[in-house]
Amino acid sequence: MQNSAWRLRRATGSIASPGNRAVMMEEVMKKFLLIVLSVAFMSVDAGVIARAEVATLRGANPLDAAAKQFDRRQQETIDGNFKRSWKQQPPTIPHKIEKDEINLQVNTCLRCHGAANYKKEKAPKVGDSHFIAADGTKSDKLDMRRYTCDQCHAPQQKVEPLIGNTFRTVKQ
Ligand code: HEC
Ligand code: HEC
Repeated sequence: MQNSAWRLRRATGSIASPGNRAVMMEEVMKKFLLIVLSVAFMSVDAGVIARAEVATLRGANPLDAAAKQFDRRQQETIDGNFKRSWKQQPPTIPHKIEKDEINLQVNTCLRCHGAANYKKEKAPKVGDSHFIAADGTKSDKLDMRRYTCDQCHAPQQKVEPLIGNTFRTVKQ
């Protein structure tokens, strides 16, 4: 505290008598309070604006009440592939993946889809694009940006869209 009062005095450039110092401290405190208050008002403003513009998927469900329970739906699986909606879409996964693991030690997806095993496992090989590095160079090793498969490839469920939309599959 002593240290910071000293620093304030240094900043304002006046070395003062005790009376003078009290007046100065009062001025400093006033300015400080003003800054604190205006920052507080600014964040209240921003909060109100943000709330007015961003719609919530949670709807009218209050934050402190339990969220609406959704029916647990079965994952869809088929023999072969699901149709893609457009050419570069990451194909959705047509088989169960509950037992698969992707972490630092293992990636069980690669045991079937990796370049080394796909023929033996009769699985489609990971896309050609998965071997191209960020700088455009091709290699025979999977690019690490593609390591977390389920970041792009997802299993499918038969569900209604959460929000109505006019999306149509590209004609192929
Ligand atoms: C036991 C082997 C095996 C494992 C493990 C496996 N897959 Fe598959 N996967 C297949 C086979 C075989 C197919 C071909 C479709 C079929 O017969 O189910 C396939 C199909 C796919 C397809 C569809 C490809 C297309 O062109 O439509 C995707 C995507 C896929 N798998 C992703 C994954 C991901 C991601 C993982 C890990 C979470 C994984 N797979 C784990 C064997 C496997
Ligand atoms: C960054 C997103 C991304 C990641 C991560 C990713 N993929 Fe893909 N994958 C795609 C896209 C997009 C396609 C379709 C275009 C293509 O073939 O490159 C695809 C295609 C595929 C196909 C079909 C290939 C074909 O020729 O039909 C398989 C199988 C596949 N990926 C498996 C995997 C596996 C297994 C992993 C994890 C090791 C993985 N992918 C990681 C985006 C991704």
